[in-house]
Amino acid sequence: MSDYVRVAEVGEIADPGRQTFEVDEQLIVLFHVDGEFFCLDDVCTHDGGPLGDGVLEDLQIACPRHGAKFDIRDGAAKTMPATEATAAHRVKVENGEVWVRLSNAETEAEIAAAENAAAENTAAENTGQAAQSQSILGSAPASTTNALDASPAESSESGSEANAESPNSESANAGQTPAELSEAVVREELKKVIDPELFVNIVDLGLVYQIEIRPHEEVGQSDVYIEMTLTSPMCPAGPQLVANCKQVVGQLPGVADTELKLVMQPTWTPDCMTDDARDQLGIF
Ligand code: FES
Repeated sequence: MSDYVRVAEVGEIADPGRQTFEVDEQLIVLFHVDGEFFCLDDVCTHDGGPLGDGVLEDLQIACPRHGAKFDIRDGAAKTMPATEATAAHRVKVENGEVWVRLSNAETEAEIAAAENAAAENTAAENTGQAAQSQSILGSAPASTTNALDASPAESSESGSEANAESPNSESANAGQTPAELSEAVVREELKKVIDPELFVNIVDLGLVYQIEIRPHEEVGQSDVYIEMTLTSPMCPAGPQLVANCKQVVGQLPGVADTELKLVMQPTWTPDCMTDDARDQLGIF
């Protein structure tokens, strides 16, 4: 287990404030908030961003690169695009000096202990858990797919009936939604848009909040209105996602115009993701 290393005097770090240090060739960032000290690796687990350069607010540090937030008390990843905690290190204050002990050796011991505990589980328990997991993971995507498949078919059927009642009436058709275009169809099409940071489609990520099919002045055409959000306000992929959404939706038959509005309320959280997205990201 590594020893504590003196890194600073208490008065050297503003409260609130933070400062980066190099300990054993490892960059760490020491936080000082409300008289307490916390220490994390100065590395964002998403793509190596320097956490010490981020915005500190409410005991969370936001990575300056793509905005992922980490709890400074334990390093837990709180928002996308980070999904893994960054290392948290022990801190003690003695005689007005701040000391840090790197967690690497301790973490290894914890991992070994966890592995030993897991090995003590019975084979029956493991089998039961695996079966339960498979059951849970297997059922959700199926029901999602069914729901998405069902809606377009229903829309198509009802639209055909409407057309049959007044097949030659332009006034009757004016302003009506083309039978093949529906919210479900648009939602399915938006699954072609992949978040370049997470490699998961934006629908399963829960970024699409609202889809409306609106009448277009030209007969047989519709406008599509989409409200969506981003995993963080600082997401650099925002313009690319917007362009890709407009492109895929604009290619659907019957779409005249696509309006896309980016909103930041309600704030996106990992809870918005479907089970499919969680599976792909390894979050359980
Ligand atoms: S590197 Fe930190 S959020 Fe991407």
